[in-house]
Amino acid sequence: MTINERQSLYVQPQFHTVPSFYGRQFEPVRLEADLFDCQIEGVFPEQLKGTFFGLGPDHQYPTFEDDIILNGDGSLLSWRIEDGHVDFKSRYVQTERFTAEREARKKLFNAYRNPARDDPDAPGLMQRDNTGNTYAWYFNGRLFALREDSHPNEIDPVTLETKDVFNFDGALKSTALSAHGKVDPVTGEWWAFGMYAERQWAGECALIVADKNAKLIREEYFVAPYPGMMHDFAVTREHVIFDIQPFRVDEERMKKGGQFYAFDPDQPSLWGIMPRDGSTSDIRWFRAPGVVCGHIMNAYTEGKKVIVDAPAAPGNSFPFFTDVAGNPTDIELGNATITRLEFDLVGESDQPKVTRIHGAVGEMPKIDDRFAMMRYKYGFFRGADGLNRIDWDTLEVRNYPMVAPNVLHECTFVPRYEGAAEGDGWLLAVVNHAATNRGALVVFDAMKIEEGPIAKAKIPYSTHMTFHGSFAPGVL
Ligand SMILES: [Fe+2]
Repeated sequence: MTINERQSLYVQPQFHTVPSFYGRQFEPVRLEADLFDCQIEGVFPEQLKGTFFGLGPDHQYPTFEDDIILNGDGSLLSWRIEDGHVDFKSRYVQTERFTAEREARKKLFNAYRNPARDDPDAPGLMQRDNTGNTYAWYFNGRLFALREDSHPNEIDPVTLETKDVFNFDGALKSTALSAHGKVDPVTGEWWAFGMYAERQWAGECALIVADKNAKLIREEYFVAPYPGMMHDFAVTREHVIFDIQPFRVDEERMKKGGQFYAFDPDQPSLWGIMPRDGSTSDIRWFRAPGVVCGHIMNAYTEGKKVIVDAPAAPGNSFPFFTDVAGNPTDIELGNATITRLEFDLVGESDQPKVTRIHGAVGEMPKIDDRFAMMRYKYGFFRGADGLNRIDWDTLEVRNYPMVAPNVLHECTFVPRYEGAAEGDGWLLAVVNHAATNRGALVVFDAMKIEEGPIAKAKIPYSTHMTFHGSFAPGVL
């Protein structure tokens, strides 16, 4: 591209609300804050001791009008809970691109995963896409800000200062590590993947496994049947499940300044299943037309069947991406319902049995992580109608309504004590109240969510959206 062509794509950025999910718009917040002793409502349980981390996107500089929430700079929130008191902190993730933009005092990296429209002053960075904005991942005493196209950013869990980019001490070959990982509750391993691991945009993907000490022990490659999106995946005690979603990457479109992904309504999602103790050459692909998934709730193997539970929509759940023809898609078709997919490993069908759970409309699923990869009873998720819990034995869904102008973000489960029964504990989540520009960390008893929050720690502003978070038990 010539300089003239590049400049023709360049328009002076402004502060805009940013297109988000469900057609919502988010205002940049841009605040780094410390609040000692939040105002408390209700009572924080004595046993609830630790730090809740949330991470989400928050543009620090003015953007193009069509910039999207996924391109926001990572901003961490921490809520340190001890003896009924809560201290709050927020800090940006100091990525290479964040630092370059701060030095330039303007946005340099204008479009999501596409350098074609970068500011002429933008430096060429290996970690150009690393906003560190997706998952506050607490793993065995260490905190990482994850972003699926890049390497993790290690964060000091007490000060929230950014330490360095982490690549398993130089061992990781993949240029990407998924924002969603799975911790094996038996071995303590960190299972992940790297989609577009070589930045070839051909669907090349790495399976990545680290031991409980964050030492890389496995990295194997395969190529997905088409260059789609994989944001999350599933692991059971016996199998690994890769899910390729119908959002196409097209390098030619990107070169013209177009979006990184485009929804392909004619393409089914593809689900590749391999034995955990096998190799990526053993992957068997299944197809699931009309099942579009961003996140996985949990998965397990039962005999010759693999069961995967996930929010699934019939259409495009990323409404800020057009379809492959450049047309906007129907926001309604992006609404997800909690869905059970059953894959018969010995049957002849190349499609799973799909069961949508009546009354379970929502996304951002979480579980009691001690029951990951195995048969489990409880799933938690947020919907437009508030916080929800599904009982997989009875298919009963319980709800606590939190509707607009309240905005409920993803919840995280914390067990009451180490050996507590599944689901016996608390759900922690950030709630913003847009009309009053106030926010809070709210705590529910996970077995009594319909009774409402038992405690709130208030902050005097409405935070940015938090995508994904985790809880560090004990005093850090
Ligand atoms: Fe996610």
